[in-house]
Amino acid sequence: MPYLDHAATTPMYSEVAALMTKMLTDAGNPSSLHSSGRRARRLVEEAREQVAAVLGARPAEVVFTSGGTESNNIALKGIAWDQRKNNPKRNRIIISSVEHHAILDPAHWLNESEGFELNYVPVTNTGLVTPAALAQVINGDFDSVAVVSIMLANNEVGTVNDIAALVDVIRGTGIRFHTDAVQAPLWLEINFEKLGTCALSVSGHKVGGPHGVGAIIMSRDCSVTPLIHGGGQERDVRSGTLDVPAIVAFAKALEISVAQRELQVKKISKLRDDLVAQVKSAVPDAIYNGELTSRLANNAHFTFPGCLGDSLLMLLDAQGVECSVGSACSAGVPQPSHVLLAMGADEDSARCTLRFTLGHNSTEQDVTALIKELPGAIERAKRAGVPKTLASVGEK
Ligand SMILES: Cc1ncc(COP(=O)(O)O)c(C=O)c1O
Repeated sequence: MPYLDHAATTPMYSEVAALMTKMLTDAGNPSSLHSSGRRARRLVEEAREQVAAVLGARPAEVVFTSGGTESNNIALKGIAWDQRKNNPKRNRIIISSVEHHAILDPAHWLNESEGFELNYVPVTNTGLVTPAALAQVINGDFDSVAVVSIMLANNEVGTVNDIAALVDVIRGTGIRFHTDAVQAPLWLEINFEKLGTCALSVSGHKVGGPHGVGAIIMSRDCSVTPLIHGGGQERDVRSGTLDVPAIVAFAKALEISVAQRELQVKKISKLRDDLVAQVKSAVPDAIYNGELTSRLANNAHFTFPGCLGDSLLMLLDAQGVECSVGSACSAGVPQPSHVLLAMGADEDSARCTLRFTLGHNSTEQDVTALIKELPGAIERAKRAGVPKTLASVGEK
């Protein structure tokens, strides 16, 4: 079955699945002092070293979490609270307008429930955040900002930001910079030290590892107010008994991903370019969205005018081709993608999109199967038309 949704989750590498399965029956709480506990602790610390080595960080900077969503919540809430506790003037949060909901929603919550001011950095029509746009939002008032969070790579359109250049805008100002790098490790080199951010999020199931595990990489001077209190694990940042098999498997997956990255980028970017060329030829009015070069190697994102993305997705799924729309569906009515809206699309075309994302087991046959089914699905979706959004029919 052609699976073209690797940005949502990518299959576990078989050697990682084997490693994790073998460990599931091992006893051992890494906080226990007996031999089993010490063995479990050693495995966790080895995994921490592995993760640090491939991300250009120090082992002490790696905090294991339950995944990208938790890492992003720790970064945003934990840093914002800590900054304001130390200096009540630091009451402003800045994020880009194309962040994943795991950043957007905690930012909204901090704004609505915790009284933080929230500012958005606009993006270009290809989804890029520029240093000039960030500087304009800060507007010279560096002392009022607690935390800036801008993603390394966008999950919908695959646009890759120059994080080091964005960090330069706030260097030496006391502002904490976090980047959501969840979509990046398979395709981009990540060097935490060189990027210069204070915190960075990664997730297991996006790199051929298990679901429900990830990490936040935090520099030693980046203090956070914990979201979860308890046994004081993970530098007191994230209490809770560690999931040793998942952590070990995640570290192994990350190591494999980084070791294979150069080859995979070559192979998959060529396959993606073929997919793009074939989609354009099969559907001449398709619009290819996003950056041409500063883009994840596995991402192809299109607007298909007059075709609701959700209808297309279901029609393709019925033919065995799995992909994604990227935008959320609310109360049964597909909502426009906030990413496409931020890039300047109108509401209707922002609901007419599909994302195809490739991964380590993608093949030419997957692309061939898509191209065989796409024109028919487009024709049927066009006949069905694009219903009005909730907003445009006066409902909330
Ligand atoms: C950019 C980005 N950030 C965060 C997340 C959330 O990660 P997790 O599924 O590990 O909670 C995702 C998952 O789709 C993502 O794509």
